[in-house]
Amino acid sequence: MAYKVKFVDPAKNYKMIKKEIDAAYREVMSKGDLILRGQLKRFEENLASFVGTKYAAGVNSGYDALHISMICAGIKQGDEVIVPAHTFVATASAVVNAGGTPVLVDAGKDYNIDVNKIEEAITEKTKAIIPVHLNGHMCDMDTIMSIAKKYNLIVVEDACQSLGATFCGKKAGSFGLTGCWSFYPFKILGGYGDGGAITTDSPKLERKARLLRYNGEDKATGEYFYHGFTCVLDNLQAAFLDVKLRHLPDWIKRRKKIAEFYKKGLKDIKELQLPHFEDKRFDDVFQNYVIRTSKRDELYDYLKKNGVEILIHWRIPYYCYKDLKLKDRGFPETESVSREVLSLPMNVEITDKQVEYVIKTIRDFFKKSV
Ligand SMILES: Cc1ncc(COP(=O)(O)O)c(C=O)c1O
Repeated sequence: MAYKVKFVDPAKNYKMIKKEIDAAYREVMSKGDLILRGQLKRFEENLASFVGTKYAAGVNSGYDALHISMICAGIKQGDEVIVPAHTFVATASAVVNAGGTPVLVDAGKDYNIDVNKIEEAITEKTKAIIPVHLNGHMCDMDTIMSIAKKYNLIVVEDACQSLGATFCGKKAGSFGLTGCWSFYPFKILGGYGDGGAITTDSPKLERKARLLRYNGEDKATGEYFYHGFTCVLDNLQAAFLDVKLRHLPDWIKRRKKIAEFYKKGLKDIKELQLPHFEDKRFDDVFQNYVIRTSKRDELYDYLKKNGVEILIHWRIPYYCYKDLKLKDRGFPETESVSREVLSLPMNVEITDKQVEYVIKTIRDFFKKSV
């Protein structure tokens, strides 16, 4: 169906920055710069500077960033890694594919890992923790970093949904050994296909990540140091992402404005919980605008019927899929979140009129359903 309001609109976004994207395309194509060239280096430098780390290394996806981070952190068979029960499956898959065992922890009221439940999941085998900053809202990094210090754990941040978000003025992806980024098209910095990056302050880790992403080869000498992967970020994607990164500060401002718009239009609806956590330590970038209601499924159907495209992250928690062989230790909050949340259209392409339409449609639903 043709939606009145799309969840994201990549074609419209392209039109907004067509001149710059087309110029980047022409530069790459006319020079024939396809793999590991200047455009990638330039993007990596700009990304590191945006995040506030010394280095960035472009890879193929957020998953690759997490997987390489797990290998660089030394995770191996028998090691346990704390991950949230409420996240995208890739967070846990990166641990499993490095040889480790994910130990899941329930969500808190802000949908991120419940920091009060981390310590009870730690055992002698625990080596690392992956806080996932969901929806553009960071985890409580004061608590997480002090738990990590107390138990000598490595912190790898899954920051795939939070580029530009801060906690106490410090950016997501700059707290842990690495920050892991996804440039999947729906992300706040979305490419035209898959993409990802690792940010870090460690020169040792930066070198190893660069070798692992390119078959273990040191390009300067041609020597091989590891059995690696082929998962370097394409030069063309890097050139496009670099264009978009220049717009990111303005695009984040626009997201915050849309979030305020939603808040103003919806805050009096008693049956709705909005994603404004009112804690001054956090500056959110609203990768997703997640609302919560016990009437989620009916609201989802109503919005869809009225032309509003909605996503749900995630209807079924990943540990419920038996074939993944993950231990369900009982995660009541994650389960009610999976039944009650939905994400409203949130993108820089959306007009004020469209936001008003979404608000009006939600208000109509709650009038009808009382
Ligand atoms: C929280 C989280 N972690 C990891 C990933 C994986 O990123 P990618 O799809 O680029 O592999 C995503 C992307 O959907 C994500 O949202």
